[in-house]
Amino acid sequence: MSKVQSSATSSNSIARPLPDSIGNDSIVELDDVHLRLDSGAGPVNILRGVNLQVAAGERVGVVGPSGSGKSTMMMVMAGLERPSGGTVRVAGQELNRLDEDGLARFRRQHVGIVFQAFHLVPTMTALENVAIPLEFAGVADAFDRARIGLEQVGLGHRIHHYPGQLSGGEQQRTALARAFVTEPSLLLADEPTGNLDIDTGATIVKLLFDLAERRGTTLVLITHDPSLAARCDRTVRLADGRIADDGQAARRARLQAAGE
Ligand SMILES: Nc1ncnc2c1ncn2[C@@H]1O[C@H](COP(=O)(O)OP(=O)(O)OP(=O)(O)O)[C@@H](O)[C@H]1O
Ligand SMILES: [Mg+2]
Repeated sequence: MSKVQSSATSSNSIARPLPDSIGNDSIVELDDVHLRLDSGAGPVNILRGVNLQVAAGERVGVVGPSGSGKSTMMMVMAGLERPSGGTVRVAGQELNRLDEDGLARFRRQHVGIVFQAFHLVPTMTALENVAIPLEFAGVADAFDRARIGLEQVGLGHRIHHYPGQLSGGEQQRTALARAFVTEPSLLLADEPTGNLDIDTGATIVKLLFDLAERRGTTLVLITHDPSLAARCDRTVRLADGRIADDGQAARRARLQAAGE
């Protein structure tokens, strides 16, 4: 246990400095992105010309009705789904130009993902789950760093537990630790509080924003949770495969009101 605690105190060494302010540089640029899939029932146009820019360090909430394309847009940003048209640029890389190996490398270097259903490997302990992306990245002290990551989400006492032995909130915290442990510049989370009770959800939201702030991480969070959306710098609304509102006007109005 003392080893865990001493590891946790050294966690500042892997933290990045906070950005002074939200810069003008876009970390995500979607330009006229289309995604069309062929299903048994015929072709479906899921994304129909999505234009979106997210600045480095920004925290963006994504809302919209079920089926509007939120998860699909997140998969496109993560390079897990290839668009059928348009341009996707993330962290300075044009994803359309990368092959599968290039995309895997891009994800390892730049993106952390929290899936809605946690996606933990059931036969691996919490520690092993969090160490996976570090091992893929060839980090020598993967298990030490994974232990620090779990300590940061308050799970230092659960590192050898399997997902089936963890509560829903603990599994979600493990998924958060796994997404943050490689210090991604962009963290994508699909309904991070969707499966949790209100109190556990509030804990996860606080953790998410604390970890992001400590490291200057850009957050794109899909959510139906108004309290989570309210903590973001702006809220992007999707409807029917398009951006219905990019949230910039509301943000400007809020900033203006705060300045008066
Ligand atoms: N593999 C697929 N084949 C055909 N249609 C698909 C496929 N994946 C998603 N869709 C359709 O694309 C649309 C958008 O799906 P998506 O999962 O992005 O929605 P969402 O906004 O995340 O919804 P929710 O809030 O319910 O999670 C839906 O109508 C869905 O049925
Ligand atoms: Mg979804």
